[in-house]
Amino acid sequence: MYAQMVKSEAADDSPEAISFQARIDAGEKIEPKDWMPAGYRKTLIRQIGQHAHSEIVGQLPEGNWITRAPTLERKAILLAKVQDEAGHGLYLYCAAETLGVSRDDLTEMLLDGRMKYSSIFNYPTLTWADMGAVGWLVDGAAIMNQVPLQRTSYGPYSRAMIRVCKEESFHQRKGFDIMRKMSNGTPAQKRMAQDALNRFWEPSLMMFGPSDKDSVHSAQSMAWKIKMNTNDELRQKFVDQTVPQADYLGLTVPDETLKWNDEKGGYDFAEPDWAEFYEVLKGNGPCNRERLAARNKAWDDGAWVRDGLSAYGQKRAARKVAAQ
Ligand code: 3HC
Repeated sequence: MYAQMVKSEAADDSPEAISFQARIDAGEKIEPKDWMPAGYRKTLIRQIGQHAHSEIVGQLPEGNWITRAPTLERKAILLAKVQDEAGHGLYLYCAAETLGVSRDDLTEMLLDGRMKYSSIFNYPTLTWADMGAVGWLVDGAAIMNQVPLQRTSYGPYSRAMIRVCKEESFHQRKGFDIMRKMSNGTPAQKRMAQDALNRFWEPSLMMFGPSDKDSVHSAQSMAWKIKMNTNDELRQKFVDQTVPQADYLGLTVPDETLKWNDEKGGYDFAEPDWAEFYEVLKGNGPCNRERLAARNKAWDDGAWVRDGLSAYGQKRAARKVAAQ
């Protein structure tokens, strides 16, 4: 279905494509029923679909700590956050459905590896401090990337982002509060917080995608305002915002080259290990197999619910026809 729907992406200089680009350049929102180039539709399905998958798979590393939270309050906050992520996934699957691709299509492509989810979720969450680092760094990076997407050209996607961003800032503050508590706690707690920062720093930088020179989609996605900033621009903003927060916590960013550059008005910092990044994308990260196995199991275990709902839907439809 998905493959048939999107025709080849041959360069399109038809009158429709020219007026479409003029609408984008004028900052107009494109809505589901508007004409759009096949490539625009395909890029949106890819990005929104993978964004949705990231929200759903992203629940797994944090879900691991719901039963282990140190207090009832921390458990309740973490539970609320993980539930929020499920909602973000649903908003995004709904936005993708407006492009003609079903949630089942997208889920099938996640489960068989044809579609990705964010590399960050292939790293393990080993201690409670990781719940702080994930909220502070991962949600912090997600906010950095998602706030500009509130202005993206595709209406349903930009509107989904407005709601997501409101909840994401709660997530980031939740994580920072855990890191603050632990950095000001016992020496063992501070060591745990530092260890979490050490393990999550580089994978968080990778969330913004490869460097601009290696980005496959950025140029076209920026021209269509599917992407509002380049990968490196957002990564730089994230570093400039996060380093002072680490200083405030009394933690050390694990990058010896990190140095404020007055001329640039930002930090110079070491590029992440791109070889590791591409290995994780190839499925060779620490938790790739575990994450996909969990999602495949959830899909299989939920088959009876889907079957029951579709049987009920068919029965209701048949009753409607019989009543006419
Ligand atoms: N993890 C997995 N794949 C990644 C990646 C990452 N961190 N960064 C890039 N890639 C993939 C791209 O998907 C693309 O592969 P594809 O052609 O198979 O899709 C390839 O690497 C080349 O990268 P590009 O820079 O050319 O790709 P994009 O232009 O799509 O940029 C992106 C990548 C910046 C992630 C962009 O897709 C984007 O902004 N997506 C929307 C936001 C999003 O998905 N964020 C993920 C995290 S959501 C989250 O963390 C939820 C929070 O609540 C915890």
